[in-house]
Amino acid sequence: MAEVKFFGGESIPLEMHKVRIVQKLALPPVERRLAAITEAGNNTFLLRNSDVFMDMLTDSGVNAMSDQQQAAMLVADDSYAGSATYTRLESKLQEIFGTPYFLPAHQGRACENILSQVLVSKGSVVPMNYHFTTTKAHITLNGGTVEELVADTGLEVVSVHPFKGNMDTGKLRDVIGLHGADKIAFVRMEAGTNLIGGQPFSLQNLVDIRKICDEHGLLLVLDASLLADNLHFIKQREADCRALGIREITRRIADQCDIIYFSARKLGCARGGGICIRSEELYRRMRGLVPLYEGFLTYGGMSVREMEALTVGLEETMDEEVINQGPQFIAYMVDELQKRDIPVITPAGGLGCHVNAMKFVDHIPQAEYPAGALASALYIAGGIRGMERGTLSEQREPDGREIFANMELVRLAMPRRVFTLSQVKYAIDRLEWLYANRRLIGGLAFTEEPEILRFFYGRLKPVSDWQEKLVAKFRADLGNSL
Ligand code: F0G
Repeated sequence: MAEVKFFGGESIPLEMHKVRIVQKLALPPVERRLAAITEAGNNTFLLRNSDVFMDMLTDSGVNAMSDQQQAAMLVADDSYAGSATYTRLESKLQEIFGTPYFLPAHQGRACENILSQVLVSKGSVVPMNYHFTTTKAHITLNGGTVEELVADTGLEVVSVHPFKGNMDTGKLRDVIGLHGADKIAFVRMEAGTNLIGGQPFSLQNLVDIRKICDEHGLLLVLDASLLADNLHFIKQREADCRALGIREITRRIADQCDIIYFSARKLGCARGGGICIRSEELYRRMRGLVPLYEGFLTYGGMSVREMEALTVGLEETMDEEVINQGPQFIAYMVDELQKRDIPVITPAGGLGCHVNAMKFVDHIPQAEYPAGALASALYIAGGIRGMERGTLSEQREPDGREIFANMELVRLAMPRRVFTLSQVKYAIDRLEWLYANRRLIGGLAFTEEPEILRFFYGRLKPVSDWQEKLVAKFRADLGNSL
């Protein structure tokens, strides 16, 4: 991606790739969109793709592959054991990260299962900059607890801090002092911190955390699923790294870590996942679980075609012009929304654009799920599927009390190299229309509420006829437009 200035003065992110395979999309009329979201119980996870125009639910497993990745898939070496495809992937990871050992897994959470089973036990504590849903679930399943030590600025919705994913080193020292180093299973840093808006950590912060880990003999584990975005931000925002290449920054990050694991649905724009390990002893302890849960050691649940695409995708991640596509589109969207006073998380991060529903629909009480209501309204307004990241994504207390989330966000993920700038402009416009009509948006109430992971399967209804009114206003303002 290149930032170019037009003769007329406007600056835009210009795609440095051309589209050679396309998938046809449909944009159903607004009346059908209302029917579709009603059929889906106002839960965007339950919409059918045929009803979705812009799928901004996630960047996981839906990034566009390059021609080189597609080509590599054709030469995959299919065998249960000893595949040359595996050896190519293993060598690429050794080359990029400098870690001698690699264990393949079918996706990121499978790596978390293996890591947690081996390193976490009853009473363990795992300090981290911020949790991800599946990470926390695996740690708690094995009897551990999570300590979230993101610096205070990480939780400020509006900020100019360039590294809101940084861990607070003072808080880390306090937690070690409180529990004792022997209770700490490992320290986890998440690149491109997902749940607080795709916010990066700095290389300096990671170096500081490493020093503390060394003082106390602690393992440092990196979740590299969103590493590509974090690499881009380090290069752009960290003065000491401006002159370094992406490959060099990657190696400096890896040099701080004992273990690096990732979801290849994000990193490398493919599918699958894996764990890169420095110590032979730890490798041996984890290795036994791979054939048990994943598959034999030379595929770990991935198809050979996925592995070939991943090897090429990892190499392409070392190219700044490739990895800056997501963050630059997101920055464009965030800037344009801010110009229109629409509340978003700032500074722009990776992964996607995060709309602050707490402010957008500040008339909806948290008990009526403002972020869920906004996600439903945005689908009606534009056929755009986002993801609720607020109270709906929490779980009730055992006594049934609702836990209100710190932030009520609608995440609009930007799958890499999938959308064009005109589609991004369309999303900005439909958000602008919705913001002008935000007082029409009402709350939601559960009609079916599963006990576990309710945001995946739960069904809700509007608390009034606000959705019909929204459709009527759309027709009044935009006529016959889709
Ligand atoms: N770690 C991070 C930081 C993630 O964002 C994810 C997945 C995982 C681990 C788990 O990886 O899905 O391959 O098992 N995030 C997806 C998302 C689900 O939509 O943000 P996985």
